[in-house]
Amino acid sequence: MTLPTPILHTERLLLRPFADADADDLFALQSNAEVLRYWDSPPWTERAQAARFLDGCQRMADEETGARVALARKSDGEFLGWCTFNGWNPDFRSASLGYCLAQSAWGSGYATEAARVLLDWAFDNLNLNRVQSETDTRNMASARVLEKLGFVREGTLREDCIVNGDVSDSWIYGLLRRDWIQSAGRCT
Ligand SMILES: CC(C)(COP(=O)(O)OP(=O)(O)OC[C@H]1O[C@@H](n2cnc3c(N)ncnc32)[C@H](O)[C@@H]1OP(=O)(O)O)[C@@H](O)C(=O)NCCC(=O)NCCS
Repeated sequence: MTLPTPILHTERLLLRPFADADADDLFALQSNAEVLRYWDSPPWTERAQAARFLDGCQRMADEETGARVALARKSDGEFLGWCTFNGWNPDFRSASLGYCLAQSAWGSGYATEAARVLLDWAFDNLNLNRVQSETDTRNMASARVLEKLGFVREGTLREDCIVNGDVSDSWIYGLLRRDWIQSAGRCT
């Protein structure tokens, strides 16, 4: 069995499966220290990490644990980053949401736009009841994205991550199916 990675459209974005040709853009994104400053692992230093990530996309589909999509701007085809559902648990009907966008794309509403259509797809196709997301407590932009989508901050994971010796707390956010349906995801 596989979980086919979806192709989704928004007004400005195409969400599509990753291709090998994305490796250079992906490496540029994940090796950028500013982009990764609140990430739970250090910036990439080796191109092989991009290859492993791309292999991981296929493995997620094959093992039915989630779906990772590349984000491309429709107007010019520019690779903007990616969005993911991972840790899908069909018994619990839960999964986790994550995203990473290139710095040049920040502040235009792209992350919220992409996550919204991916949430629609996931609630419809995976029969989810709960989606979870965690973010560094210093990452106000990510927290704001989650809150615009209707996620509720449920708590703090103290000293959750240690990256290069830097200890950080995380907020844990949850979004329930009934809240998503009620808001129809239109809660900006
Ligand atoms: C977090 C991230 C995905 C946001 O992407 P984006 O496309 O800029 O997000 P959006 O434009 O949809 O929304 C960002 C919101 O955060 C707000 N924001 C940005 N920086 C902020 C800050 N320092 N303090 C408070 N709010 C902030 C924006 O004003 C916007 O809210 P608004 O629509 O009410 O004005 C992007 O910055 C990113 O990829 N960062 C690096 C990777 C990362 O941290 N991923 C998340 C890991 S949990």
